[in-house]
Amino acid sequence: MAFQNLAEAFSPARVTPLSVPILSVVIPTFNERDNVARISEALEKALAGVEFEIVFVDDDSTDGTLDRIAGLARRNPRIRVIHRIGRRGLSTAVSEGMLSTTSPYICVIDADLQHDERIIPQMLRLVMAGDADIAVGSRYTDGGGLGNWDRKRAAISGTATRLAKLIAKAPLKDPMSGFFLISRPAFYSAVRDLSGQGYKILLDICASANPTLRLREVPYEFRLRQAGESKLDALVAWEYLMLLADKMFGNVIPARFLSFTLIGGFGVVVHMTALASLMASGKVSFMTAQAVATTVAMVFNFFLNNTLTYRDRRLKGVRAVSLGLVTFLAVCSLGAFANVGIANYLFSDAHYYWWSAGIAGILVGAVWNYAATSIFTWRLK
Ligand code: GDD
Ligand code: MN
Repeated sequence: MAFQNLAEAFSPARVTPLSVPILSVVIPTFNERDNVARISEALEKALAGVEFEIVFVDDDSTDGTLDRIAGLARRNPRIRVIHRIGRRGLSTAVSEGMLSTTSPYICVIDADLQHDERIIPQMLRLVMAGDADIAVGSRYTDGGGLGNWDRKRAAISGTATRLAKLIAKAPLKDPMSGFFLISRPAFYSAVRDLSGQGYKILLDICASANPTLRLREVPYEFRLRQAGESKLDALVAWEYLMLLADKMFGNVIPARFLSFTLIGGFGVVVHMTALASLMASGKVSFMTAQAVATTVAMVFNFFLNNTLTYRDRRLKGVRAVSLGLVTFLAVCSLGAFANVGIANYLFSDAHYYWWSAGIAGILVGAVWNYAATSIFTWRLK
């Protein structure tokens, strides 16, 4: 909206009396241009009579989502946005959105209208009545459903749900849900211990909260996505395993380091495969074959780490990727020297067993590679 003059902009008639929200609805968005207006309208309708606000958290969408949100926010004082640049990640988007609010109850819902906003009043009543710290929109309790999910997706979701039982402290039928309503104190009891890995913010909250959250599930039928496409892909499975690992051994080993070393393990397999085929070809010397295999494995490791371990800081574009690859190769070469040097010292001078000297060398190399590439290759902007 444009104003003709200052007097118009400051006219008292324009000032809408604001009231304080008791409910904040946090909506993560990434390329949801055609959904933001629809979800806002749907919420207005479902929450008629409730003082609420909407906080969109957008990770710098490229499809014009931000302009659409700004357009809505200029007309509706309930709506605001947190615009994150150079970051990606559903979990961190949601927790930052929640942290930006002050109302006593916070609801998290997807922008694509797959979650049924009409159950929010029921969720709010449950939590307000003190019957639960958190109400979860559930596809797996009686009355809930997956809509028309194909069997493959339903099976994957089922497996992930069973795995979740490893870390969720409370019994939850749909721990993977991205749809819930929580009281502020309950959220605060978890927020400092959140892993922030991947997509499963609810599971993260339930695994981190202390004392264990009292929860209630409210059934709903998962709906079809209205517009745009899902951002969940095969890589999300890796992030999910990292969340489980982080919650199980995160106090001892950081999940990122675990991911980095696991990929290093794959690298060994790649290395040996390359070496074997080069040797079988009979065309090159062992030295050459080993050197080529090492390079192949390092390049493989770089790309895998770039897509999995550092998904949230992924290097993109020819320049960033080449620079990243060069620093990665340099760091890992130094790591290899350190590995051999230390193992050799332990074996020859300190008289360790060959295998313990070998493992110590690998560990030193891995820690060096991890620490140095996190600074030089995938540094935080
Ligand atoms: N800010 C931000 N950053 N938002 C994101 C990102 C991100 O990196 N990735 C996805 N989103 C937003 C999407 O725009 C959407 O509003 C919401 O998060 C869910 O993403 P989808 O891509 O639609 O996920 P889904 O439908 O496959 O899965 C959802 O529903 C499941 C069932 O409740 C998620 O909420 C899952 O966590 C949940 O298990
Ligand atoms: Mn969705």
